[in-house]
Amino acid sequence: MTPAAHGPVVAENKIIDGALLAERIKSDVAEQVRALEERGITPGLSVVLVGDDPASAVYVGSKERTCIELGMHGETIRQPATISQAELLAIVDRLNDDPSVHGILVQMPLPKHIDSDAVVRRIRPDKDVDGFHPVNVGKLLIGEKDGFAPCTPSGVLYMLQAYGVQTAGADCVIIGRSNIVGKPMASLMVQPGVDATVTVCHSRTRDLARHTRRADILIVAAGRAEMVTGDMIQPGAVVVDVGMNRIPDATKRSGTRLVGDVAFASAREVASMITPVPGGVGKMTIAMLMANTARAAAQLREVRS
Ligand code: GUN
Repeated sequence: MTPAAHGPVVAENKIIDGALLAERIKSDVAEQVRALEERGITPGLSVVLVGDDPASAVYVGSKERTCIELGMHGETIRQPATISQAELLAIVDRLNDDPSVHGILVQMPLPKHIDSDAVVRRIRPDKDVDGFHPVNVGKLLIGEKDGFAPCTPSGVLYMLQAYGVQTAGADCVIIGRSNIVGKPMASLMVQPGVDATVTVCHSRTRDLARHTRRADILIVAAGRAEMVTGDMIQPGAVVVDVGMNRIPDATKRSGTRLVGDVAFASAREVASMITPVPGGVGKMTIAMLMANTARAAAQLREVRS
């Protein structure tokens, strides 16, 4: 899914609007779903949720609702935290073999007694719409387009392209080296056609600000509330904040407030464009998951027929 079919979006008040782009992606996916329906295929996503982590339950609920909104099958398989590794693998095997299931997602984190890597490796790579299976990680790294890239970094790249950000030759600094965001983000930004020069910073990086101040594009996925401040940003840089942190706020009824990894007010003064939290990257992840699921359905059909 690329924004090429649409004209460039212009940032209002420097804000990169993730909610607007997510709606655009979802309407493109709904159109793909209608075309697949005409061929007798209804894309289906099965999400496996283990345990009762409230944040995971919220994410999973919104994945299922979005599937249904776009005309796809969405099911959530809920299992207790006491499920054994063998039982969970058996569920994955069943979904792998079910032709009405095109995308499989096992919500992370899993309970400690489960080997998450073994579960991810059990998912058929062509149904791995999260893009976590080593086959898809490898395909992303070598630039094979029929694999699946993880949804959050795909959403970030979509945002940059939709807003016409010049990536070719740009200095892109990523903070965070997770397998879900930082590393795949680096793979996407260096791929031919995107052509950025990438630096990946992490908790052991010396003098972080020395790196961030050189960035034309700064992508922050560190998981630390408001750690990047305006003085660490090059004037005119594009700033993408992947963070989602709850911090205490006595002025709110809930007693907390959601903030990113970037101190928004000071960063916005310096940046040319910036993603807010909430309203930035968050909504893009589910939109890209829907796009991956529709593509999985189209590709699986091609393999079978
Ligand atoms: N937990 C938090 N984010 C994700 C995600 O993108 N995929 C899965 N499977 N689990 C998650």
